[in-house]
Parts: sequence; structure tokens; C-alpha cells
Amino acid sequence: MIRRQRRHLHSSISTLTDLVIIMTNNQGYIAVFDSGVGGISVLKRLMKQMPNERYLYYGDSANAPYGDRSEEEILALTQAAVKHILTRPVKALVIACNTATAVAVEQLRQTYPDLPIIGIEPALKPAAESYPAGLIGVLGTTATLGSSRFQALMARYIDRTNFVTIPVPELVPMVEQGLGNSRKAYKMLKKILQPYEGKLDAIVLGCTHYPFATASIRACVNNLPLLDGGIGTAAQVKRILTKRGLLNPGPGALLWENSSSDPKIMELCKFLLSNPLEEP
Ligand code: DGL
Repeated sequence: MIRRQRRHLHSSISTLTDLVIIMTNNQGYIAVFDSGVGGISVLKRLMKQMPNERYLYYGDSANAPYGDRSEEEILALTQAAVKHILTRPVKALVIACNTATAVAVEQLRQTYPDLPIIGIEPALKPAAESYPAGLIGVLGTTATLGSSRFQALMARYIDRTNFVTIPVPELVPMVEQGLGNSRKAYKMLKKILQPYEGKLDAIVLGCTHYPFATASIRACVNNLPLLDGGIGTAAQVKRILTKRGLLNPGPGALLWENSSSDPKIMELCKFLLSNPLEEP
């Protein structure tokens, strides 16, 4: 059954009624959204756990990075992207972006109460469980690390372990150019991570772009364990779809969309999808 929600736009751009298609059977897409190509690290985890699903990956590379923008801008960009995504038949939406989740997930859930919306958050819980009383470096965007949602998450685990937040604003644009594991990325990271050398027990990759820079990160921190929230997010999507009886028996499929018309972005998306990610 296709459920249609009609909402009126109150913007000066359009006064048309817009259409949102939420699928309540298993044929709908699992839509995966990120500010750019980073969410492909979550898409890969999802495809590994649920290969029979139909995926729609939407990256907003024309507006990336989100991480140095104001909360108002991040919210507006995320809402606009999701509105576009929901013109397709979607059965679940994965916000594969820590920054957009931190700022916008609650508002999105209010706007689309019938749609399962799964956000990603930095993997502080597994870090606290695996490294009690340790010191964990949390890499993320300025917006994620400064958000009240992230601060509340950290407060939940602070009695079990210690966290140091390390904003890395330069890394997202480098990954967007396919330079996550370049000499340039390594040099930038080395400068930022040098003060923590020998002090950390593990690193949380608090941005979905960073799994595409793990060689550079590891080289700066003596091969410390790197924790990626994408695995837990994919498991949570599977749990929710299973509970609702929405898993697709197959065949699987993948549809790419990006707000950037630069053909290099699509090449990069396919390249990143084909590259193996580190397993924990
Ligand atoms: N992949 C996004 C995240 O997880 C990157 C944010 C950005 O565009 O700066 O936070």
C-alpha cells in the first residue's frame, strides 16, 4: 500500500502541494542520505547486512560540507533533501550523516511520523563498553561535536570512560575530492592528531566520510582501533525492517542520485562503493 501525505509548502519558492510517498510494503527503497559521498560507508554496511534490498543513495555534494554550517542551514538543507528523496517510494530513511542526524533527525521524525527514520551517531557506546576508563578520541565535524544531541550522548557514557573531541573540518572536502587517503590528508591529520600521540586507546570516527580516510588516520595514531557507527546503524535498520515485516526477498538494486551534476562525483561514488571498508 502506498500512503500519500500531502503537505502545503509555505515558502516563497512554491505554493504547489508536494507529494510524499511512503511505502508500507517491502518493495520501497531504503533511502540513504548524506551531505555528500560519506554515507556510502553506511550504504556498504547496509548492503552487506541486507543484500536483497532496493537502495536509493542521495548525496548533497553540491552543498557539502555541512559540518561548518549553522544549525539553521543544516536543518534547511536536510529538510529539502529529504523532501526530494520522498518523491520516490521509500519504506525507510537512513540519515547516514552524523551532522544531519545531530541537527535534524527529531524534526524529520515529527514531519514524517509514518516513516521509519534511522540516524547515525558517533560510536561512543561501543567505545565505552570496550575501553572502560580509557581515553577515546572522537573525530567529527564542528557541528556534530558542538551539537546538544552529541553533548547529551557523551554525558551518558562519561562516567565509564573519557572522551576528547577532535574537530577535523578539513577532512570532508578532501574525501569529497577522493583524497581521503592522500599525502595531503595525512599531513593535515598529522598536525591535528600529534598532541594525542601515545595518549589515546581508540578513535571514534564520528563522521561517515572518515571511513574513507582510515589509512591516513591510522598512520597518524600508530594503528589504534577505529570505531565506526555505520555497522550499528545498519544493524538497527535491519532490526526495524524485520520487526515491521518490511524486508525485501529480492532482488536487490541501487539507484544513485546527487545534487551535484559534476560527473566526477558519480565516478567517486562508484569507486568508494567498490573499495572494501575496514572490518572491526
Ligand atoms: N558525512 C557527514 C557526517 O557524518 C559529513 C558532514 C559534512 O558534510 O561536513 O557528519
